Amino acid sequence: MNGTDAIPSVTALAAGRAGREAWGVQASGEGVGGRADEPVLRVRVPATSANLGPGFDCMGVALELFNEMSVEVGSPFAVDIAGESAHLLPTDRSNAVVRAMDALLERVGSRRVPSDWRLRLVNRIPVGAGLGSSASAIVGGLLLANALVEHFDRERALSRRELLEMAIAMEGHPDNVTPALQGGACLSCPDERGVRTVHLPVPDHLRFVVAVPYFTLYTEDSRRVVPDVVSRADAVYNIAQAARLTLALSTGDLSLLRGGFGDKLHEPYRQKLIPGYEEVRRAAIRAGAIAITLSGAGPSVLAWCDEEGAAWQVADQMTLTWREHGIPCRTEVYRACRQETVVEWRTSR
Ligand code: HSE
Repeated sequence: MNGTDAIPSVTALAAGRAGREAWGVQASGEGVGGRADEPVLRVRVPATSANLGPGFDCMGVALELFNEMSVEVGSPFAVDIAGESAHLLPTDRSNAVVRAMDALLERVGSRRVPSDWRLRLVNRIPVGAGLGSSASAIVGGLLLANALVEHFDRERALSRRELLEMAIAMEGHPDNVTPALQGGACLSCPDERGVRTVHLPVPDHLRFVVAVPYFTLYTEDSRRVVPDVVSRADAVYNIAQAARLTLALSTGDLSLLRGGFGDKLHEPYRQKLIPGYEEVRRAAIRAGAIAITLSGAGPSVLAWCDEEGAAWQVADQMTLTWREHGIPCRTEVYRACRQETVVEWRTSR
């Protein structure tokens, strides 16, 4: 599932592997079949962890956990969904992937693109967990619809820059959609032409433990508690931490993040909405994590580790600590996804 060599762990057995089955996640390719030899458009969009601590609304990283989406042209409109949280996701035109596709098709105004298509989704990114599930729907939908336009009405297709701008406008902030489209760790930096993407290096040995507690925290609720105005001291603290993070990633010296790496713009306010957060953070650091950040708007927590074995130890301790607070939790270890997200034509079988 995650491109890592799974080291047996309490967490993986108790909450990860078993949890994955309980949540109905399927192996790659399951549930996305179609008619034999029917050409389909297909895309895999990564989960993302936004903010990376001090980079509120401007930094994010893509992870090796993917939602798969495919479109079969010429079938009556339908949406089939398998996998994680499938029962929570609508199968009509209000589906987030369909809405993104419709938005793009309406914008380009092509009459040549057929209006009948069947969308198949294999969902692996938990919904409402702070792992970019809505960004993945937007990016996947825009890419699929644009690929249809490229195929049927090439001149109207949008550039990747235009796709990114549209995705940012739909999501409201750039920090999830940018790595979901471009891969890697991204800094979305305002400049005179709009938002410039700066790619941050990701050291090979960096591993992310993603701990997903079994409760949902909606982004709008989690944004509501973030103050519009902060003190100069907190702003200065965040400038220093963001510079520290950029240097640690650029040099590969992750030890620069040890000891008090953090954020004062959003995390302190959001942590209050997450029972056990402080204890889980401390347990992860004691177990060897370099730093802890809230993933996006939460409630998932990201533990930064500098090697795989340590990462699984950290995962175990995070699971156990959250359980002590009566909160079941699932943990996995991921690398950053470095590839940009592209659509391919495939035969379905
Ligand atoms: N930057 C966003 C936030 C990410 O923290 O609210 C969640 O969508």
